Amino acid sequence: MTQRSLVLVKPDGVRRGLTGEVIRRIEAKGYTLVALELRTATREILAQHYAEHEGKPFYEPLVEFMLSGPVAAMVIEGERVIEGFRSLGGATDPTTAAPGTIRGDLGRDWGLAVQQNIVHGSDAPESAEREIGIWFPGL
Ligand code: CMP
Repeated sequence: MTQRSLVLVKPDGVRRGLTGEVIRRIEAKGYTLVALELRTATREILAQHYAEHEGKPFYEPLVEFMLSGPVAAMVIEGERVIEGFRSLGGATDPTTAAPGTIRGDLGRDWGLAVQQNIVHGSDAPESAEREIGIWFPGL
């Protein structure tokens, strides 16, 4: 089934000049970019995007990190793209994410309060549509 997923290159990825590498891997895998915008998040957007993490110890550092610079927000499309991009991205912790994945190849632990793990990808069809509505209302 054709799906859409919301992908963010987080501020660490944009700062390190990895936006093109992330897009290259998405396109090389065969997924289609249907929206792409470089922008700085707001507290309002992040409160919606990370609602499920509110109250967790890493929530405030996560919000501050996500506000620390621009993100590259995109919507990608393809058959089973949600699980496909999560496979491309790798496990949350970049130290142990499998080599061959974005986080496994390009990420590491920087000793900070929040895991800076380069990318976000929606984890289920319902969250994908919810997140696309937050970042790209009307799409
Ligand atoms: P992501 O899964 O895209 O969205 C939640 C983010 O919170 C996650 O990426 C990490 O950047 C961060 N995160 C998740 N778990 C932890 C943790 N235990 N400690 C620090 N940061 C975390």
